[in-house]
Amino acid sequence: MANKVAIYPGSFDPVTNGHIDLIRRAARLFDKVVVTVANNSSKTSLFSPEQRVEFLKRACDDIENVEVDYFSGLLYKEVEKRGAVAVVRGLRSVADFEWEAQMASMNRELSRECETVFLTASPEFSFVSSSMVKEVAILGGEFAKFVPDFVAVEVRKQLPKK
Ligand code: PNS
Repeated sequence: MANKVAIYPGSFDPVTNGHIDLIRRAARLFDKVVVTVANNSSKTSLFSPEQRVEFLKRACDDIENVEVDYFSGLLYKEVEKRGAVAVVRGLRSVADFEWEAQMASMNRELSRECETVFLTASPEFSFVSSSMVKEVAILGGEFAKFVPDFVAVEVRKQLPKK
């Protein structure tokens, strides 16, 4: 039986409702979606990779064909290791497209089999990103509606005490 696995990689620092929407939609297209948290990101992160994996597992625990894991190193190697047929990435805007297209081309240059499938963000999440959620939270704005409730609690714990 065909078993089409897709990989959805990212920093997920933290997972947003936009990510979850994308995971649900990807899970309808593929037999299995492996959400992989990048372990070697140069970005300074609010949450450890372990916490990010934990949040994703909790946020996706009702989706049967989704698995959550880490990856470090080059994405195409992870794709090969898991026998994935595609990398899934979300596109919120044309600005996203420029970087994403470059990344997809580099991955295909590194490995001919490494295809990237883009899903456009649902309109209600088209402006939501982990970095903006963190910025709004740090500056005291209302961020909770952009992330699962339990993630909002965790983000608040990281904020400096007033
Ligand atoms: O959520 P992000 O930060 O946009 O995710 C970016 C990520 C982790 C998918 C990307 O940086 C990545 O694939 N990193 C692994 C290193 C790699 O393979 N680089 C070469 C292709 S550009």
